[in-house]
Amino acid sequence: MKRLIVLSIAMSALFFFSVLGPANGQGDDDIFDFIPAGGRTLLETIREEGLQPDLAASIAESGGDPATWRATLDAAKSGSLALGALDDWQTDTLAHYLAANAPLDPGGELPRDGRDMALELCQSCHIITVVITQDRTREAWLRTQNSPSHVEVKTTAAEREALADYLVINAGIPIDLVPPALRAGGASY
Ligand code: HEC
Repeated sequence: MKRLIVLSIAMSALFFFSVLGPANGQGDDDIFDFIPAGGRTLLETIREEGLQPDLAASIAESGGDPATWRATLDAAKSGSLALGALDDWQTDTLAHYLAANAPLDPGGELPRDGRDMALELCQSCHIITVVITQDRTREAWLRTQNSPSHVEVKTTAAEREALADYLVINAGIPIDLVPPALRAGGASY
């Protein structure tokens, strides 16, 4: 009897996790979920809904600076639920991503965005918290990335600018929004 109860608890726990586990359909919940989506993910999300033809054509064919892309995105918002749902920061993040990367081949793999780069490149010498909690200017981010302690980081000049733009908009996360496991210890350099 006891064993049956244990088994049924285990089964319901299993059920619970299998149903509620990967909550957002984007893969496992992970400790880095608090770091805002970058342009690659945002673009994938609005592509899933289906891009309006005008916007799809602009992305496939045009370049442009962040302000131009911001205007293009704002103009397309009323015709797209997914795009319309982006807040100001997300729209700016996507505008900067497009400025750095468009024109983009509609069928091609999307280049990594600032969040991808931060997670891939900025954790081997210090905790990501050193990066993501700083509220700094673009120049300050570029200065850090170009400093002697960062020459080993494998990025192109254009990627360093794209990462700086992502961080200007999305870093400066208050420490109490950082998961406790990522708060302690700080830097290990
Ligand atoms: C090869 C090791 C290494 C990697 C990889 C690395 N850092 Fe650092 N980082 C350091 C060291 C060493 C320091 C402390 C000395 C200094 O400030 O230059 C530091 C300090 C910092 C600081 C705080 C001091 C400052 O300059 O303002 C920031 C912010 C920072 N790193 C950002 C980044 C970002 C962004 C990345 C990913 C692109 C990154 N780091 C990847 C070695 C690294």
